This record gives sequence, C-alpha cells and structure tokens, in this order.
Amino acid sequence: MTHNSTAKVQDQPVLNRSDFGENFAWGVATAAYQIEGAHDTADKGASIWDVFTDKRGKVKQNHHGKIACDFFNRYPDDLMLMQEMGIPNFRFSLSWSRLMPAGTGKVSQQGIDYYNRLIDHCLELGITPWVTLYHWDLPHELEKIGGWPNRDIVSWFSEYAALCANSFGDRVNHWMVLNEPMVFTGAGYFLGVHAPGRRGFGSFIPAVHHTALCQAEGGRILKSILPNAEVGTTISCSHVEPLRQCEKDIKAAQRVDALLNRLFLEPALGLGYPLDDLKFMRRIEKYMKPNDEALLQFDFDFIGIQNYTREIVKYSFWTPFLQANLVPAKKRNVPYTLMNWEVYPKGIYHLLHKYSQYKNIKKLLITENGAAFADELKDGQVNDQERVVFLQRYLQQVLRAKQEGANVHGYFVWSFLDNFEWAEGYDPRFGLVHVDYETQQRTIKNSGLWYRNFLMNKIK
Ligand code: GAL
Repeated sequence: MTHNSTAKVQDQPVLNRSDFGENFAWGVATAAYQIEGAHDTADKGASIWDVFTDKRGKVKQNHHGKIACDFFNRYPDDLMLMQEMGIPNFRFSLSWSRLMPAGTGKVSQQGIDYYNRLIDHCLELGITPWVTLYHWDLPHELEKIGGWPNRDIVSWFSEYAALCANSFGDRVNHWMVLNEPMVFTGAGYFLGVHAPGRRGFGSFIPAVHHTALCQAEGGRILKSILPNAEVGTTISCSHVEPLRQCEKDIKAAQRVDALLNRLFLEPALGLGYPLDDLKFMRRIEKYMKPNDEALLQFDFDFIGIQNYTREIVKYSFWTPFLQANLVPAKKRNVPYTLMNWEVYPKGIYHLLHKYSQYKNIKKLLITENGAAFADELKDGQVNDQERVVFLQRYLQQVLRAKQEGANVHGYFVWSFLDNFEWAEGYDPRFGLVHVDYETQQRTIKNSGLWYRNFLMNKIK
C-alpha cells in the first residue's frame, strides 16, 4: 500500500461492506456486568465484581456497576436503537449469578425470564444474539469456596453451561464459552487489579489450569446439548515485537507472546501449554491429572480474537518470572488511546495471519476491537472523529488480511454503549453510542453513524 492510499483511508471512508463478502458477520459486543446494572434485582446473587467494587480504592473514583447503563430495564429501547443502526449481530454475556444466585443448585426463574425476554426481543427485531457464558462475573458464593483456583469449578461451570444451553439453545445458535481467560486470570488472580483481587502465583497457576479445563468442558457441554450450534470461545491478543533486534529482547518478546497470545489457545487445539517458552509456568503440571491433556482439548467452531493494541517488549533482569517489560506507548512517540494503548492497525493484520496458520482453527472472528477517546457531548452530538478513523484503519487491515487469505469471518465493535470499564470506571468511553450516566440518555456518536452507514452499504 502506498503512502498516498493510506492517507486516503484516513481522510475519507473508502471501505465498502460488500468487500468483506456476504457472509461476514458484523456486530457489536457488550458484557453483562458492564451494562446491565440491576445488581440486586429479584433474587440475583452477588458476583465478584459486586463485591470488589464495594471495596474502596479498587476502581477509579470508586465507580461500580450497580446501575451501569441500566440495560436490564432499558434493553427494549437499546435494541431498537441497534436495529436503527442496522447492526445485525449482538454479542452479550449472561450473568451467572443472575441465573444461579449461589453459582450452583437453585436456579432463578426471574433470571431465566429476563434473558428469555432479551433473546426474544433481539429475534423479533431481526438481531442475532451471540451469547458469551462467562465475561468475568463469577458468583461470589463460588469465590468464597475457592473460585477459579479450585478444581471443583469444572463441575460448577458445567452445571451452569448446561443450564444456559437447555434454557436458551432453542433460540441461540452462536455461543462463546469464555471471554479473554488470560485477562481475568492474570488481572484477577495474579495482579489483583480486577475482581476478586487475589495476587500471586499460588492463585494464578491453578486458576489458569481450571479455566482452560472449563473452556474445553464448556465447549463439550454446549455441543452435546446443541449439536447444531456454532460454539466458539474468545481470547485477548496483541501483536508483539521486540524493542531491539537483539537476542535478549527477541526471547523476551517470545515469552510475552506465549503468555498473552498462546497460553489458552494452544491447549484447546491439542498442542498443550506453551511451556517451552514459559518455563516459569511449568509448575502448572502439578495441577494436571492423568487425563487432563485430552480434557483441555476441544474442537471449537470458531476462535474469537479480541485486539486493541500491540506490545513492544524489552528484556528485563529485574522482572520476576517473565524477565520482560512492556514499553509503554507514551514512551515511544506513537499515537495512543485514553487507555494508553498504542493505536496500531497493522497489528490486527499480523494477528489474523498468525492465527490463520494454526491448522486446527476452523475459523476466526474478531469478537472485540475498538477504542476509548475523550468524547464530548456537545449540542446533542459526539464528534468522535478519532474513533471513526480508528475503526476504518483497523477494518482496512482486516480486509487486507482477508484478501490475502486470512481465515476471518466476522467483526464486532467493542462496544455498543459506553459502559463500566472495569478498574478504570466510567471515564474511558468505548461506545458507538454515548451514555449520559445521570439521565441514561443515549446519543449515537459520529462513529455510530459511520458504522450505520457502512453497514447499510451507503458508503461506496
Ligand atoms: C476487553 C474486555 C471488555 C472491555 C474491553 C476494553 O479486554 O473483554 O470487557 O473492557 O477489553 O477494555
């Protein structure tokens, strides 16, 4: 691509939906805790995020998801907006503790009724639901008895997965087992910056293994109950490069790549954990039972890749275990978002090629991509030009990879609405639709208008 044509993409939209082919799945993504609110409606149980956000100092400005976007009550209007924007596919997650207040055993009929209404409403509007079983909101009752580091979670999760499949599988054909296992185990059980706020290897290593077992077991359960459903799972990933072309940085980048991009994927594909590149994780073998290698494997119909940035890696003697540091975008004189993540559209291109090389991946979907910028609501408009350009440039790279043969079949913007951005609270706004948290008023941002026009094929 010449310098000129790149500039053109930034200046004016040259993308055409039809370039991606008729069967390409377009959508938006959300997660229960980030949008629903209604945290104690009816007999909903607390999740680890309800408990974590109640502790002072864990989330910026002590924000919490008690009300969030009030999607629990406002979904009819929100879905109407989605339909007006021409969005054909809606990815959302189910709240485990809304469906099973204690995580196992008793089922909440009100929880089931809510998701039935939501799913039925989508279908009435011609919007296809894509359901994630687990997007980070573990029932607190299960955390009290050990959470993800406790191997019993495999049977707790199986019970939950079966309930979801049996309750909604007559209408939901697209499923994802987990959302970004590396992030919720790493941030929640190693760094302690996400719920449940545990730290250290002692929690992290068993959490990884049991999560990876649940990933495959969840797939098996969904498929055995719903043989015709499309069953996938999602992973976070970032294109990784060494800072300098020296042996130490190159090796450090390999370790980071194994941790961020391969740890949960490869066992599912039957390749085992990438322990050759992650020697410090070898103690995971202590938690493996005789048949586990087979149990870690599941033949997913698709892998959802979720990409926001790239990582530049430098060897570090002082960083325990990984001996690698990520060089922040701010120090590299590159463009970055409100999350301090580098804007690097080519990263998604490299990732699509990287994952297309795995023989056992049937197909790839981009189940999340998007950005937070400092949006401003002025005279009833949000002129978020940076986000428009971000989406255009990333999509241009998706198209380039696809045209070169990458196995990519869909794209979901993170996110439909501005929402609760975990430990960052409500300040970073990722939505195509602006939310005024005082009034709950929705305003389609210019990026949302752009996506609508693109989806309606009005841009040639
Ligand atoms: C992903 C996560 C989403 C959302 C997004 C933006 O890691 O799945 O819930 O928060 O990042 O940070």
